[in-house]
Amino acid sequence: MLRRLHSEQPESFAFTPANQAWAEAQMTKYPEGRQASAIIPLLWRAQEQEGWLSKPAIEYVADMLGMPYIRALEVATFYFMFQLQPVGSVAHIQVCGTTSCMICGAEDLIGVCKEKIAPNPHQLSEDGKFSWEEVECLGACANAPMAQIGKDYYEDLTAERLGEIIDELAAGKVPTPGPQNGRYASEPLAGLTALKEFESGRTQFNASVEAATRIGDTVKRIDGTEVPLVTPWLGKGAKTAAKTAAKPAAEKAAPKAAPRAEAKPADAAAETATKPALLSAAREGGPDDLKRIKGVGPKLEALLHEMGIFHFDQIAAWTEAEVAWADENLVGFKGRVSRDDWVAQAKLLAAGGETEFSKRVDKGDVY
Ligand code: FES
Repeated sequence: MLRRLHSEQPESFAFTPANQAWAEAQMTKYPEGRQASAIIPLLWRAQEQEGWLSKPAIEYVADMLGMPYIRALEVATFYFMFQLQPVGSVAHIQVCGTTSCMICGAEDLIGVCKEKIAPNPHQLSEDGKFSWEEVECLGACANAPMAQIGKDYYEDLTAERLGEIIDELAAGKVPTPGPQNGRYASEPLAGLTALKEFESGRTQFNASVEAATRIGDTVKRIDGTEVPLVTPWLGKGAKTAAKTAAKPAAEKAAPKAAPRAEAKPADAAAETATKPALLSAAREGGPDDLKRIKGVGPKLEALLHEMGIFHFDQIAAWTEAEVAWADENLVGFKGRVSRDDWVAQAKLLAAGGETEFSKRVDKGDVY
């Protein structure tokens, strides 16, 4: 199957503040200079937030990881789990069409999708609420036929039941996932033939369904505030990550603001931020290669130029208040200056020295 970026793309992409904190925390899992290893979790979070991966989202993630766009595009277009076109605003239904499901009625389920959603896979329904596709075995063959809707499995489906599920979702309800024919899990339909003694101790639902109903995010777009950001690998640094993640949680409690809006300066440093001296153009000889600073990719370098920052010595001279200003005003890259200690790096580079990172850039080891 040919996988192409969608013909219509949004103007821009930005993680929600909480997802941004989450993504930046994921990047710290990898050794210095290996941040590109975080490409799949970051693309996945972008998709969880928007429902699909737009070109600006792929480029945004590439910039965060300091990767050429083509490398991120290669990943996004290779894996079928990444949706490259808009999906239904309520749900994208993935019907398993592999052997067990096919024998047990997957074609009827696909018929329902064609009738109720759209004639073709990856085509939005007229109201934009639903889309569907056929996928390969989802590993629930003992409960065939089945479909994944959002994050959960709906098993032991019939055409009629799938139709009802779509109607319930359209009405704003989320039907209970799991077996839809009265089975508890994947025991024989006629009931247990062994281990019957455990039957009496059952909870209402099997563990997967129990968790799905407790979490309740089956078809919810993920904005990063669902679970606390846990970064045990950071040791003491975990506090910092947790603090960053705490901001959006507080925003959530506040009167509803636009969800994608940038966070307002929340700490003392931001309040005392001072705009540094900026230039209208690079000095004679042209700008320095700011990408030799760890944390600066092509997109961020272009943004710095737009803002009037072209040279290492400009950054090297920043005071704490000026760092706070830059941290706050690099839209889409907030906190990057202090996170990667640009000032210390720029001081070395401005004096003609090298950093470990700039040496790797010079050798062509950094993508
Ligand atoms: S064949 Fe459908 S889940 Fe395995």
